[in-house]
Formats: sequence, structure tokens, C-alpha cells
Amino acid sequence: MTKLLVTGGAGFIGSNFLHYWTKKYPSDQIIVLDSLTYSGVISNILPQIEKKLIHFVNGDICDKNFVKDLFKQYCFDKIIHFAAESHVDRSIHSPSKFIETNILGTYSLLSASLEMWENNFKGKVFHHISTDEVYGELNDNDPPFTEISAYAPNSLYAASKSSSDMLVRAYNKTYGLPTVISNCSNNYGPYQFPEKLIPLMIINILEGNVLPIYGNGSNIRDWLYVNDHCTAIDLILNSGKIGETYNVGGMSEITNLELVIDLCRKIDFKIDKNDELSKRFPNNLRVKGKSSETLIRYVTDRPGHDYRYAINPKKICTEMNFKPAINFEKGINFTIDWYLKNEKWWRAIMNGKHSDWIKKQYNENR
Ligand code: NAD
Ligand code: DAU
Repeated sequence: MTKLLVTGGAGFIGSNFLHYWTKKYPSDQIIVLDSLTYSGVISNILPQIEKKLIHFVNGDICDKNFVKDLFKQYCFDKIIHFAAESHVDRSIHSPSKFIETNILGTYSLLSASLEMWENNFKGKVFHHISTDEVYGELNDNDPPFTEISAYAPNSLYAASKSSSDMLVRAYNKTYGLPTVISNCSNNYGPYQFPEKLIPLMIINILEGNVLPIYGNGSNIRDWLYVNDHCTAIDLILNSGKIGETYNVGGMSEITNLELVIDLCRKIDFKIDKNDELSKRFPNNLRVKGKSSETLIRYVTDRPGHDYRYAINPKKICTEMNFKPAINFEKGINFTIDWYLKNEKWWRAIMNGKHSDWIKKQYNENR
């Protein structure tokens, strides 16, 4: 039985990971540490808590004494560190939380791990979950990022994640702490907080709200279905080499504009086919006989907006046989269906304590 500490398990990727892991490894002991910030949604993992598949601890990764006490109580073998401030737009408006959580919080976990594992590193792993944004941006003809691409962060979010990656690297090189880092491209799927492009657009299309596209919509992202990211983490945790970095991506590049048009067409098609949906979403433009694409608005660009991300996942593919199982067409249909089935989930967020930021963005972009 492995004793796992999962930080940030109430967020988007963390909660999907917990669903994945508890199904595949039900006898592991899993402690989830999450301070339930605006993007931490406890209902994402309530069934796992109630079935005692995981034990939830409400706490801040920045609180080193608290983290050390948890270590003393549970003697973790492996740490999967998801907890972070994750939204680029928020990092532009208020960077300080990003510095605290992403840099100081990671430092706190690293130093607690080093102290508590006391140089007895056999069977121990600290897996740091990072992003492709640390490598900056690509132009159209540039080859995708590899593990040896230079770091060139452009947003405050990316700079804070880059700093945390550097700390993880230095703890490995200096003290021998058994770390691995994975840098992943854009994830999408169930439970993604509706400030991010895909869930925001799905909800706005259903509600007949405007669809704000930053700049001219030509920016490109490389999308990976979240379950495939969980598979990659599983592979790395079980057979990754200590001290190494692995890039994870979907080999699925698309411009933001193409993506939003695709969402409009897919949702309009579903509305046409299903009367019940028309009743549930009376403000959707298709219900009124128009196309949802007419809701697209080009708004002021994000400052420092990275043009293109793309990942070369050759290392994880060749060393560990990783292959994304869900292509974009399938994954985006699953995702739309999930948001249709889980209206209560996103309405609670839109109407609840988390909504101020989303409403402000929406009003600014009208
Ligand atoms: P998220 O914002 O949905 O979830 C973050 C979670 O961390 C939340 O549950 C939040 O409550 C928790 N948290 C924040 N600050 C904390 C603190 N100080 N102490 C304890 N818990 C805290 O983020 P996500 O999209 O699930 O991203 C998870 C990780 O994956 C992040 O490290 C992010 O950088 C990385 N990542 C995300 C993507 C993506 O496309 N979403 C891609 C690559 C890498
Ligand atoms: O690449 C991995 C990263 O992907 C993760 O590390 C981040 O945590 C995650 O948030 C994501 O960052 P992005 O900035 O790429 O994701 P976001 O969903 O915010 O935006 C995707 C693209 O869509 C980006 O080019 C900006 C654009 N966009 C976004 C929003 C919210 C719009 O055009 N309009 C919008 O309203």
C-alpha cells in the first residue's frame, strides 16, 4: 500500500486524478491537502471522501509546520503536487498569490519532504505537476517544446511555475531529493473551473452570452483530455526516472477561434436534436433560430499573450509507451456532454462565492 499526499486535489486536474487513482489503486492510502481557494470545489471529490477512499485535509501548502505535522502523522511515500494558482488572467491582475502559493508553497513542501524523509529516499517520489507555459511561446514554424527547450516564461503565472520547477530541480541536484517534473499542455474535461476557455465558452453558448475572444483568435493551444494527463502521471510516478522532466501533450493543436466555432456548432447541433435542451436553455441563440457563432466578440488581447504552445511528447511516448487515448473530437464531445449533464455543478459556481471574477470579466467584455 502506497501512502500518497495529493495537494490541490479539489481542483480540476487533482479531482480527475483522484477519480482515476482511487478506481485503479483502491487500496492506496491517499491524503488530500487543499485550502479550497476559489477554484477548489469539495463536491468534486465528495463521493471519494464519503467512501473513505481518500482523507481530506483543509490546509495551506505554504504552512510548513502544518505540512510537517501531516508528514509525521502519515509518513508519505509519494507526493503529487497539483496545488497552485492556475489562471493566467488572474496572475496579471494580482500576482502576489501566485508568488506565495506557486513558489513559496512549493518550497514549503520541498523543505518539509527533505526534513521528514531524512535522507531515506528509498521508494519515495516528489512529483511536481507543471506546465508547458514555462517554455514561453512558439511561432508557426517552430518545432514543439522538448524537455531541453529553454525556459522563457511570459506571464506571471508562467514565471511562478518556472520558479517552482527550478526549486524542484535544485532540491534534487543539491540534496538528492527524489523528484520528477512533468510539463503538460492545456487540459480540458470534466470539473474544469468555468473561467478557463472551454468551460467558459460552453456555458456562455448555452446561456446565449457573448463569447469573448482575446485578440484575433489566432493563438494556438495543444489540448489534452484530462484523463490522458492522469494516465501520464501514473506512468511517470511508477516508472519515471528520478531527477528527470517529462513533457506531456496531446499533439492536438487548434486556434482559439476554430475551437470556439467548433463548440458553437456542436452545441447548436445538440440543441437542434433535443427538445429538452431547448427548454432547459431558452436563452441559447439556436433556440431562437440563430447561430451561436454570432455571439463571438473580439476583445482586448491578454497582455503578454503567448501565441502558440505545442509539446513534443516523444520522451514519455518512447520510454513509457504513453499515447493519448482520447482524441480531441471525442474528448470535446465528452466534455460538452458533461457540462450539459452537470448544470447544477456549474450553476452553483456561477451563482456562488466564486462568481465575482467571472461576472467582472463578462461585464468588461460585453
Ligand atoms: P485549479 O485551479 O483547478 O486547482 C488548483 C487547486 O489547488 C484548487 O483545489 C485549490 O483550492 C488548490 N490550492 C490553491 N492554493 C493552495 C494552497 N496554498 N494550499 C493548498 N491548496 C491550494 O488548477 P488545475 O487546472 O487543476 O491545475 C493543477 C496543476 O496543474 C497546477 O499546478 C497547474 O499549474 C498545472 N497544470 C494545469 C494545466 C491546465 O490546463 N489546467 C496544464 C498543465 C499544468
Ligand atoms: O498550457 C497549460 C496551461 O493552460 C496551464 O498551465 C494553465 O493553468 C491553464 O489555465 C492554461 O492556460 P491558458 O492561458 O492557455 O488557458 P485559458 O483557458 O485561460 O486560455 C486558453 C486560450 O484562450 C488562451 O489563448 C487565451 C484564450 N482565451 C481565454 C479566455 C478565458 C480567450 O480568447 N477568451 C477567454 O475568455
